[in-house]
Formats: sequence, structure tokens, C-alpha cells
Amino acid sequence: MAKKTIRDLNVTGKTVLVRVDFNVPMKDGEVSDDNRIRQALPTINSLIEKNGKVVLFSHLGRIKEEADKEGKSLKPVAEKLSEHLGRPVKFVPYTRGTELETAIASMQVGDVLMFENTRFEDIDGKKESKNDPELGKYWASLGDVFVNDAFGTAHREHASNVGIARNIDEVAAGLLLEKEIKFIGGAVENPDRPFYAILGGAKVSDKIGVIENLLDKADKVLIGGGMSYTFMKAQGYEIGTSLVENDKLDLAKRLLEKGKDKLVLPVDFKLTKEFAEDAEYRLGRYDDFKPDEMGLDIGDETLKRYQDMLKEAKTVVWNGPVGVFEFEKYAQGTLGILETLASLKDTSTILGGGDSAAAAISLGYEDAITHISTGGGASLEYLEGKSLPGIDAVDDK
Ligand code: 3PG
Repeated sequence: MAKKTIRDLNVTGKTVLVRVDFNVPMKDGEVSDDNRIRQALPTINSLIEKNGKVVLFSHLGRIKEEADKEGKSLKPVAEKLSEHLGRPVKFVPYTRGTELETAIASMQVGDVLMFENTRFEDIDGKKESKNDPELGKYWASLGDVFVNDAFGTAHREHASNVGIARNIDEVAAGLLLEKEIKFIGGAVENPDRPFYAILGGAKVSDKIGVIENLLDKADKVLIGGGMSYTFMKAQGYEIGTSLVENDKLDLAKRLLEKGKDKLVLPVDFKLTKEFAEDAEYRLGRYDDFKPDEMGLDIGDETLKRYQDMLKEAKTVVWNGPVGVFEFEKYAQGTLGILETLASLKDTSTILGGGDSAAAAISLGYEDAITHISTGGGASLEYLEGKSLPGIDAVDDK
């Protein structure tokens, strides 16, 4: 069922509570990666244009005790948002109480206010993270309508997403959440075919559910990165000193049996003796590892094969780098795939959050990819085919 979005709302003169995911990387007290802030701008600007009063809130980091609050205030985030919006964002350093209530009550149409980190409520009994009913009810009482635009948090059932939704009359998705549902949900539910997935990253164990689900849904699942070696060892190949999860060999065997021709493994690798940026490498095939060698990237033949396959695809989902892309020498596989995806014109290219998404943005490919998810854990769970509480809590149309 399609979800209600802010396009369906009349917010004129209303106080709109907007859950965003501004859990952004910080360095020396400043926002060091503002992607999640930029991705929320269309929703915020649209609510301003529609004459709403916009009350924003988010979590930042994980808070267990008072000391964890250090460096976790949303004040610098509010400042960064204000720069992007080109208008003031009033920051209220509380998560409840008279000062917050008065500030909200005195808002004018078009004003933007942000209140403090919702997880500051976790110190006293994990109220936010355990979806304390009183807290969800209280936050809901601060506004007229609730907009959830926090895809990154949609896999959590917290007071600031699900709790509020249960206690307010109208709940709609923001434009970012709508986009995430359209592209990630759409790829998993109803993709244009051929639908190929590329799954990389260090561990099979991080992606078991995603591999299982995409083996059912995709036409091919191309494997890269550290997890390749567990699959190779499971087939009895020498993998030298490459990364491996020995306790996942049976699982890898099961996935290989399930996947058959659909599960595509690299045929060659960049092999080296040392895990180091400047270590020399040689190209070697899957059956050619020496006991003292490790693979750090897919080889040229694999890259070419993967690129040729991707050129046929109509939908591509990618999650996880296919090599140690932090080292320039071993970034070529990941970069090569990125370039191919960026060159595809009639293909829906979707990047799950995390390292491959961050790489695409920092390398300047943001506009050439159809959709780069803002979710890490959330996009993985969505790709696993799970329903996400934050999305479920939004009203159907
Ligand atoms: C994320 O960055 O993945 C989300 O903001 C969720 O954060 P969490 O894992 O601390 O709940």
C-alpha cells in the first residue's frame, strides 16, 4: 500500500513535527559530513513553502550515561542546517519542558526550530530507544501533524518515530523517506529486469539476510570484497592469508548451493603479501593463491566481467566495496564499478548506505547515481526484505 507523503498534507499554519536522521559524522565539534542534512532539505523547504511551522528533531550517537552527552548536542547540526536553508534555525537545548513548549508556541509560519538530541532521554531508562509510551505521547502533543523523514532510523522502533506516530492524528513520509521507499523498496519488490546486485564488504556475516533475499529477488548477485574469500574457502580453494570467517563456511556452502549460477564470484584478484598501502601485488586467479598471499581487490578480468554484466542491467543495487578501497592501489575494482554505474543511462542504480555510498559521494559521483541511500543498517534491513517499523508507522494513503 502506498504511503501518505507531505504532498498529501495541508500544513498551513500547522506545527509540523519532523523526525530527521541527523546522526551525522562530527569532527572537533563540527559536522564533517553533511549528506544527511542536505538530503533532508527538500522536505524542510517544502514544508516552509506550504506555510507550516517546522519542528525538527533527531538522535545523534548513542547515549547511555551523562558523560556520553559530551559532543553529542545537535547545536552544531542546527547551525549547519541554517547555512543550507539560508534562514535561521532556532535551537532549543532541551528535549522537553517549558522552554521548549514556549518556543514552539511562539513560532510563526515558515519558522524552523530544532530541539536537542532525542537520545538525551536515554539516560533515564532508555525512554527514547525503548519507545517509552509517555515520551512518544509527550512529543506528539507538541505538534499537529507528524512527518517522518528519517530513513536511517526506520529500522528502529523508538519514541521519536513510532511512539509519536501512535499518538497523533496524521503521519506522512517526508520526500527523502518517499525516495528511499521508491528506490530500495521498489528494487526489492518490483525491479525492472535484469536486476543485478553487487555485494561487497568484509564479512559474509554482515550480509547473510541481504544475500538470501537478493538471491530470491535478483537475476544475479555479484560478490566482491573480503566476503569472497569465505565463499572460496567453502569450495576448498587455497585463500592464503586472505580475510576469512571460518565459522561461516557452512553458511557460505549453503548460499552457494542456493544461489547456483546466480551467485557470481570473482575469478581473479590482486594478491599481495602484506596488508599495506604500498605493498606490491600480482594478479592471480581464484585457484592460484600462495599460502602467504592475500587478496585485497578484485582483478582486471573480474572487473571487466562485472562491468559487462552491469551494462545489461535495468536495475542495480550495490552495497559494500569490492576491495580495500582506502588504499589507492586496491580501490580500482570499486572505482571501476562506480564508473560503470555512473555511465548507465537507462538503468536504475541504487547504492545502499555505508562505505560504497560514502565513496560515491566523496568521489563526485552523487549526481550520476539514481539513488544513494542515507541508511546504513536501515538500508541493509530493507534489502533483506524486512518491514521497517519507521515506515510501517506512516499512514497509508
Ligand atoms: C545510523 O546511522 O545508522 C542511524 O542513524 C541509526 O543509528 P543507530 O544505529 O545508533 O540506531
